[in-house]
Amino acid sequence: MNDRIVVIAGGLSPERDVSLRSGRRVAEDLRDAGFQAEVRDIDATLLADLQNDPPACAFPIVHGVAGEDGSLQEVLQAINVPFVGSDATSCRRSFDKAIAGSLVSAAGISIPNAIALPQAMFRDLGAGGLLDAITEKVGLPLIIKPNRGGSALGVSVVRDPAELPAAMVGAFAYGDVVLIQRYIEGTEIAVGVYDIGDGPVALPATEIVPDSGLYDYTARYTAGTTEFFTPARLEDRLLEAAAETAVTAHRVLGLRDWSRSDLVVDADGKVWFLEVNVSPGMTETSLYPQEVAASDSSIGDLLTALVKRAVARG
Ligand SMILES: Nc1ncnc2c1ncn2[C@@H]1O[C@H](COP(=O)(O)OP(=O)(O)O)[C@@H](O)[C@H]1O
Ligand SMILES: [Mg+2]
Repeated sequence: MNDRIVVIAGGLSPERDVSLRSGRRVAEDLRDAGFQAEVRDIDATLLADLQNDPPACAFPIVHGVAGEDGSLQEVLQAINVPFVGSDATSCRRSFDKAIAGSLVSAAGISIPNAIALPQAMFRDLGAGGLLDAITEKVGLPLIIKPNRGGSALGVSVVRDPAELPAAMVGAFAYGDVVLIQRYIEGTEIAVGVYDIGDGPVALPATEIVPDSGLYDYTARYTAGTTEFFTPARLEDRLLEAAAETAVTAHRVLGLRDWSRSDLVVDADGKVWFLEVNVSPGMTETSLYPQEVAASDSSIGDLLTALVKRAVARG
């Protein structure tokens, strides 16, 4: 078999650098596992190269809009290049936090109270009255985030209504729709899921303890600013509930191969779903590789299995 894998990383989102780091690492792991892997950016030569010299499969690891909203996947599907990860439709419904939230909520998963607000609505109805009504309905504290975003860019916590307008402006900088969501106090965890043919399986949960209290961009990509515990320091029944939540979200959203759900477990032991990532970060400080390292599998074995599945799908 042709064992050439094209890892697609980069793109033009604010998460470009993170994606390039993820891509380099996946390519390295694939080479260690015996594949011929190269990293390619999304640029004007990519399409022709994929068509003229088709690889065994592509491995998209582009974070943010172009990589996770399904558009890259749609293009790969159109030119018949098999790829690792979820198809375009599932990416699209997962990347929109409000849509993903409604779908998993219908399956019985708890999601924080939230309202998604397009910038135009904000302008047409008047910011002041609207923000008051929303604050009343959703309840303080709030977390403000772009409805379609990543890496905590444009995310802020609002404990005092006076901070809300600035938080909205910060989030609108990253997208046209902002999600105003109830902030859930508790233990933040991430749960990776993989499916190598026997259905989705949860990896050990990673507990995230940022020095600053908020798992923002700096806390994510500056080594040493966040403490991680894998498995999370939670009772077994809570770890099981979290694993079940991540697997259910993966199933309900129709995801394929791999995903990572971001969750919060509150003091009452309730598991709240924040979002799911279809191309989880794979950098040195990322969560998914830490979880694989703590599992019975190895990153090499897992990537090999995912690639083989993508190739077999053809
Ligand atoms: N409802 C919430 N309650 C508590 N913390 C939250 C909530 N929503 C988001 N956060 C915090 O903000 C971070 C980013 O939010 P998330 O929904 O995961 O978006 P993304 O990772 O795509 O930027 C999370 O890792 C978490 O620390
Ligand atoms: Mg997240």
